[in-house]
Amino acid sequence: MNFKEELQKKTAEIEALLQTYLPEETGFQKTVLEAVNYSITAGGKRLRPLLMQETYRMFGGEGKVVEPFMAAMEMIHTYSLVHDDLPAMDNDEYRRGKKTTHAVYGEAMGILAGDALLNLAFETAAGAFDLETSGRTAKALQILSRKAGIYGMIGGQVVDVESEGQPLSREKLDFIYRLKTSALIEAAMTVGAVLAGATEEETSAIESVAGDVGLAFQIQDDILDVTSTLEVLGKPVHSDDKNHKTTYVTLEGLDKAREDVKEISERAIRTLTSLRKKNEFLEELIRMLITREK
Ligand code: IPE
Ligand code: IPE
Ligand code: MG
Ligand code: MG
Ligand code: MG
Repeated sequence: MNFKEELQKKTAEIEALLQTYLPEETGFQKTVLEAVNYSITAGGKRLRPLLMQETYRMFGGEGKVVEPFMAAMEMIHTYSLVHDDLPAMDNDEYRRGKKTTHAVYGEAMGILAGDALLNLAFETAAGAFDLETSGRTAKALQILSRKAGIYGMIGGQVVDVESEGQPLSREKLDFIYRLKTSALIEAAMTVGAVLAGATEEETSAIESVAGDVGLAFQIQDDILDVTSTLEVLGKPVHSDDKNHKTTYVTLEGLDKAREDVKEISERAIRTLTSLRKKNEFLEELIRMLITREK
């Protein structure tokens, strides 16, 4: 199997796994359950659960304990997108090739579906306690909650929204990207490492790899916002311009942004390959992200 086939197979397996954690659409709160399932099943690359699984495998993980965390990871990421698209935030109409959750179910349901996904994520992740008792699950939960919160993704979104229409220094832009985007990727990879029993030194190296992967990922997202199309991307282009955002592209220009995606990703791969434990698929995946078109 070549890399592309392997990627498709693994993504399909993650899709199937996610399905098993989705709520049934019954009861008086049916609308929000439908909105939750709508947002999660709309598609998406499933990159974060994949990164988690591959980091888990890299450090010798073989059990099922990673599965509830993979599902939780995608729920948190999806909630972050549902809220990011709300009228009060980026006010976008399309996501993952479909109408955004608030566009279909209304703004209140969009807010509540996001809240629901976040809670469901932690309920799901806590299910890992039924699978292992070594203390790794507790550590992984701490990482996940911190990286998703005010010192992670939410913190980044706060500064992102507050900075709209304002000139930004590179220092502050880097802060935003390291939080709003890198933090969840750091959560994915370090949770994978911790659940597999990686040492503290290995986990900290993985966190630095993930930080760079996230930074490169967000710069590429900024590039695609100006160079791609709604059809390819599945979400509106020129969203950043519409919201008067300073981005890596407006600050550094398109050419430098492209160079830096490559350079930062190569730095991530160097750190990854310097470790004693190996996962070639993971290396290839990070390399593929440099040229991703969606
Ligand atoms: C979009 O993330 C939000 C950013 C951090 C740029 P993805 O590009 O991973 O979105 P999906 O999950 O594939 O839809
Ligand atoms: C958002 O960055 C990152 C999140 C935490 C959701 P963007 O606002 O650039 O993400 P897109 O372009 O809407 O996916
Ligand atoms: Mg945003
Ligand atoms: Mg957005
Ligand atoms: Mg964007």
